[in-house]
Amino acid sequence: MLILGIETSCDETGIALYDSERGLLAEALYSQIELHVEYGGVVPELASRDHIRKTLPLIEQVLAESGCQRQDIEGVAYTSGPGLVGALMVGSMIGRSLAYALNAPAIGVHHMEGHLLAPMLEDNPPEFPFVALLVSGGHTQLVRVDGIGQYRLLGESLDDAAGEAFDKTAKMLKLPYPGGPQVAKLAESGMPERFTFPRPMVKHPGLDFSFSGLKTYTLNTVHEHANEEGVVDDQTRADIAHAFQRAVVETLVIKCKRALKQESLSQLVMAGGVSANKELRSGLEQALAKTNAKVFYARPEFCTDNGAMIAYAGCQRLLAGQADTLAVIATPRWPMDQLPALTKS
Ligand code: KG4
Ligand code: ZN
Repeated sequence: MLILGIETSCDETGIALYDSERGLLAEALYSQIELHVEYGGVVPELASRDHIRKTLPLIEQVLAESGCQRQDIEGVAYTSGPGLVGALMVGSMIGRSLAYALNAPAIGVHHMEGHLLAPMLEDNPPEFPFVALLVSGGHTQLVRVDGIGQYRLLGESLDDAAGEAFDKTAKMLKLPYPGGPQVAKLAESGMPERFTFPRPMVKHPGLDFSFSGLKTYTLNTVHEHANEEGVVDDQTRADIAHAFQRAVVETLVIKCKRALKQESLSQLVMAGGVSANKELRSGLEQALAKTNAKVFYARPEFCTDNGAMIAYAGCQRLLAGQADTLAVIATPRWPMDQLPALTKS
């Protein structure tokens, strides 16, 4: 079944063609970073308008790259939530209309389910059941996954998401949006022994997270080391970035190990933008190498937003006979455990 995937939930237009027999045929991504950088973050209205400009040309591009015709498309999957409502509406309207015109089924995909299933696009994918760590700009969750649509939330952030904490730390360190990769890069030149930041909530039982205290600690450290003009020297900025990243990584690693133990499972899948972080990947790998557990993640470009993960997730649901009506419904807030389980029809 050849599926067109459309991702427009935030600041990236991602389009892909995935075939259930042949795998991923083509994908294209347009990032709006340049559009939003001068505002220091995503401006929702500008994001929606840019998705309108980019979605159709990118669909033409993936069709041309894959050698497929528009009429070959057998189903359309588009992100219908969670995300920015205007941005979601663009992808959903285009996807739903295109499917109608092609007389093909259409399905609105949950963005976080897309992230969660992205590691399935890699060689040697994980097998159900597993524990998933979802770490993106809006979510930090540990989920027990028994199958597609069989999700049990084990723990989540009580305040900021991990990606959000990276983005806010970037602002404190005067790094441009989007902050996560910038903090990670700056941290590479940080001195490990200079600062030790707190590991939030690791002493609390359970699997919830909290990153707002760490954010305040980071801000206080920045202020303490600023000169009279409010400027922090470059080495200190790098040292702070390093200490912040270390604290986030160690906190996530501790909770992942705890979740695997609690659920008696030995596979950990991590997904979402922060799972592109090299320190997090190696930190988890090292920690789990000491147990018999294994960690799975997608290639870096499929950790952040992309069309391939939406095409894949939509394909699984369409193959099982699920499809949307003609109504176009964008759901900006949408708990993942409300999704129906996949039962093969
Ligand atoms: O999954 P994603 O692309 O979009 C959402 O669904 O939110 O995640 C974006 C988040 C941003 O907060 C970004 O700063 C963070 O992921 N991020 C990273 C890295 N790459 C992206 N954080 C830390 N290290 C990275 N390498
Ligand atoms: Zn995302």
